[in-house]
Amino acid sequence: MLELSLNVLDIAQNSVVAGATVVELTVTEETARNRLTLTIRDNGCGMTPEQLARVRDPFFTTRTTRKVGMGIPLFRVAAEAANGSLDIESEQGVGTTVTALFELRHIDRMPLGDMVGTVTTLIRLNPELDIVYRHTVDGEEFAFDTASLRPILGEVSLAESEVMEWITANLAEGVTALNSQA
Ligand SMILES: Nc1ncnc2c1ncn2[C@@H]1O[C@H](COP(=O)(O)OP(=O)(O)OP(=O)(O)O)[C@@H](O)[C@H]1O
Ligand SMILES: [Mg+2]
Repeated sequence: MLELSLNVLDIAQNSVVAGATVVELTVTEETARNRLTLTIRDNGCGMTPEQLARVRDPFFTTRTTRKVGMGIPLFRVAAEAANGSLDIESEQGVGTTVTALFELRHIDRMPLGDMVGTVTTLIRLNPELDIVYRHTVDGEEFAFDTASLRPILGEVSLAESEVMEWITANLAEGVTALNSQA
């Protein structure tokens, strides 16, 4: 994977498989601390302590089509390459939080990439899912929440092309404004 946003998409897809109704994605860039933090939090089925202990092992997966699950191990490799780490908290019946830390200016840190693409892809594939996106650059925050759109849309799906166009533009504008702060 060349962009962290693709890792995030992969991890968020685990949340969908786990039956989550809400997935919260956060990106926190802290220049002074030289740190980038990515979190993916869901209210899906969660994992037992035993599953959680084994989940870092690339040979552990509950999928039946092939034996090796790579989403979490790849994300961990990306974090560790940038002098960071990956942490997973999970509780059965409550949900799961995956947190990846990176040295922001590490030479081997992969670029964040297209987070707007990740969020819009998740919405397109899972229009019933509620997605919260929070992106903070040195304390300045942009936040987006699909739940706030539903009362306005009524019966209209988030995946409707005009709605998707609006969401894409809104996200792009918010993220661009953050990045022009510095
Ligand atoms: N958010 C989550 N909620 C509940 N279980 C999870 C969650 N994320 C991962 N898991 C468990 O951890 C296993 C490993 O996840 P991982 O993403 O590494 O591989 P995978 O999803 O099985 O396969 P791949 O990502 O390669 O398609 C999953 O099969 C699932 O059992
Ligand atoms: Mg996966």
